[in-house]
Amino acid sequence: MEEPSSEYLIVSGSLRSNSRSRAMAQFLTDCYRSQGIAAQMIDLRSLPLPFCDGEAAYDHESVIAVSKTISSARVVIIATPIYNFDASAALKNLIELTGESWEDKIVGFLCAAGGSASYMSVMSFANSLMLDFRCLIIPRMVYATNEDFSDGQLSSSEVRQRVRALALASTRIRNS
Ligand SMILES: Cc1cc2nc3c(=O)[nH]c(=O)nc-3n(C[C@H](O)[C@H](O)[C@H](O)COP(=O)(O)O)c2cc1C
Repeated sequence: MEEPSSEYLIVSGSLRSNSRSRAMAQFLTDCYRSQGIAAQMIDLRSLPLPFCDGEAAYDHESVIAVSKTISSARVVIIATPIYNFDASAALKNLIELTGESWEDKIVGFLCAAGGSASYMSVMSFANSLMLDFRCLIIPRMVYATNEDFSDGQLSSSEVRQRVRALALASTRIRNS
């Protein structure tokens, strides 16, 4: 049994039970495993966090724990639903709560959307990570729409190949 690595972290940011972005995150986990990497997964659906209030929420035990997990990672891949042309509010709340833990991370994106028109939706989210925390964004964002899934799994061979390429890129990029 492989020990989960703290170097590679995948954050699943959908709270939906049959989430497609979580299916993408699970496929990415498989890609890492095939490279001998046991990535750690944080699923926000099973990690109840308080809303960021800019004060007492920072002392919540789950916030302290997840901040440590993020701090320990070198690479963080964010799997997100596209909601209102952006990442999910649950993910934005996570960033607000864990702020400086994101300093200098290498960050990638897996996006599940209803249609193709929201393709560039995570750019403002990515910009905030670059500007606030000097994150290096992997220029291989993976974007999937409903047609890329069947039986709840990522079935498109093209998108699966893009996830593999993201996994590989994340092992090569270094943020000095
Ligand atoms: C509140 C809400 C807002 C949404 N906004 C968008 C959107 O702006 N663009 C889009 O392509 N799809 C949008 N969708 C569709 C979701 O992105 C799509 O259902 C996706 O599969 C959700 O990710 P998940 O399956 O990981 O939860 C929206 C869905 C919801 C519930």
